[in-house]
Amino acid sequence: MTTPSRALLTSRLGGFGTTIFAEMSALAARTGAINLGQGFPDTDAPAEVLEAAVDAIRAGHNQYPPGPGIAALRAAIAAHQRRFYGIELDPDGEVLVTTGATEAIAAALLALCEPGDEVVTFEPYYDSYAACIALAGARRRPVTLRPPDYAIDPVALAAAFSPRTRLVLLNSPHNPTGKVFTREELELVADHCRERDVIAVTDEVYEHLVFDGREHVPLATLPGMAERTLTISSAGKTFSVTGWKIGWATGPRAVVSATQTAKQFLTFVSGAPFQHAIAHALALPDAYFDSFRAGLQAKRDRLCAGLEAAGLEVFRPAGTYFVTADIRPLGEDDGHAFCLSLPERARVVAVPTVVFYDDKEVGRPLVRFAFCKRDDVIDDAATRLASPSA
Ligand SMILES: Cc1ncc(COP(=O)(O)O)c(C=O)c1O
Repeated sequence: MTTPSRALLTSRLGGFGTTIFAEMSALAARTGAINLGQGFPDTDAPAEVLEAAVDAIRAGHNQYPPGPGIAALRAAIAAHQRRFYGIELDPDGEVLVTTGATEAIAAALLALCEPGDEVVTFEPYYDSYAACIALAGARRRPVTLRPPDYAIDPVALAAAFSPRTRLVLLNSPHNPTGKVFTREELELVADHCRERDVIAVTDEVYEHLVFDGREHVPLATLPGMAERTLTISSAGKTFSVTGWKIGWATGPRAVVSATQTAKQFLTFVSGAPFQHAIAHALALPDAYFDSFRAGLQAKRDRLCAGLEAAGLEVFRPAGTYFVTADIRPLGEDDGHAFCLSLPERARVVAVPTVVFYDDKEVGRPLVRFAFCKRDDVIDDAATRLASPSA
């Protein structure tokens, strides 16, 4: 085969190589290290949710489902938003089923941004945000979050807005920091959105992982925000089925409809049998959500203790299933180099947070570990980290 004479990858995707998760998971597989890099659980969904998927396949739900998603799932998503947050939605027009939250984010950005528009987001940011903003021809304007508390700096937030701001893309609970934005911080964001007539797109995939009695506040529940917020979430994290890729976007009819216009040309529709199973899962009793959260909170405590014992400075997360730590107490300051050498030194894989920052100085010494793993795996990783080879 001859090689094309010009660069193959579009300039819009320049700099976006393999995602750090794929790179680090490959490193874990190659070295046999414990993978605390990628955020996927090593336990399964509740048996009845798995059964519901098998039943749906056997019942013949194996062809293209309707474009916006099956009616039962759209009704279940609307019921979930009412049950947990008091948000009222019409399942016909205000709810869209997507192929994971990832597709909802991509479709929203492609549908809502003109080339040259600006998107205010918060760094460190989930890596698909930067890529999808670039694919849409828009520009990211990150507001930097810094440890230890990753609080929003009101001055930096105000400075990120301009007349070109089209939307704010906000993730709470936040990956990779584990930050759960407070109502006061969300009010600051909402003030700018209302004053400047800006749309908010929120990524709430960790909505059920909020610890120590804190509450998750959807931005859409703040005054004047329901009519300008597209709320995105997915089943992957909440039901430990990250491979099923069932997500959703909810909000004002016009914004949902615009997002659906882009979605129909990305995947058209999303996995039919899994939609049936997630309709079942969303109706699980409160006890499921409570014990899921309590279980992950205990794992957070377990890994944080292990990382502290290994000498890292740990920023205890309020939510998600990630914890970030500063490696400088170990006498190192380059998180990327640290993560590349960690599989050999300690047979553990972590992710360097710097890849999610434009401000490389802030992110440089930070490393992210996932704790959505079995207790014995967490303990094993902690032991290895506490006694690395030189
Ligand atoms: C913040 C955030 N958004 C979106 C996703 C992807 O969600 P999904 O698997 O539903 O596409 C992830 C997965 O790690 C995430 O951490």
